[in-house]
Amino acid sequence: MNIAVYPGSFDPCTNGHLDIIRRTSSLFDKVIVAVLCNSGKKPLFTAEERVDIIKKVTADIENVEVISFSGLLVDCIKENNAKTVIKGLRAVSDFEYEFQMALTNRRLDSEVETLFIPASTEYMFLSSSIVKEIASYDGDLKGLVPDELIPVIKSRFN
Ligand code: PNS
Repeated sequence: MNIAVYPGSFDPCTNGHLDIIRRTSSLFDKVIVAVLCNSGKKPLFTAEERVDIIKKVTADIENVEVISFSGLLVDCIKENNAKTVIKGLRAVSDFEYEFQMALTNRRLDSEVETLFIPASTEYMFLSSSIVKEIASYDGDLKGLVPDELIPVIKSRFN
């Protein structure tokens, strides 16, 4: 079984993330979305909430599983019998850090390969931070996150 892991903070999951999940789900037998739960940042949603949200918005994609992880990504990959890490790239500015992480992960586990997927043009500007910034000023989130998430995100800023 060809399994890929798509890791991230997903705080919150955006339509850009969902686009990457949908597109890669057709390339692998299974895509495991792995939510990092030990990030230094103070998250808007707990890891459990982020997992539940992603489960809901990917419920129609059969071969997607959602988990949380802490510690090293390479350990999470091994535990889940995966070999590939999926990373979305929005711009050249993403590349430097992502390239460093890809090489670090391969150094830690020589069997781990990173697959960079270019963002769709309509989501090239989009990030979880941008979504939070807009929500904090009660701006319009339509098209940036799944519709059902808009009130959930907005309520965190009330
Ligand atoms: O959505 P993000 O915050 O850009 O995701 C970052 C993530 C989760 C992919 C990265 O922080 C990560 O892999 N963390 C796990 C710790 C780890 O394995 N570090 C070594 C590789 S640099």
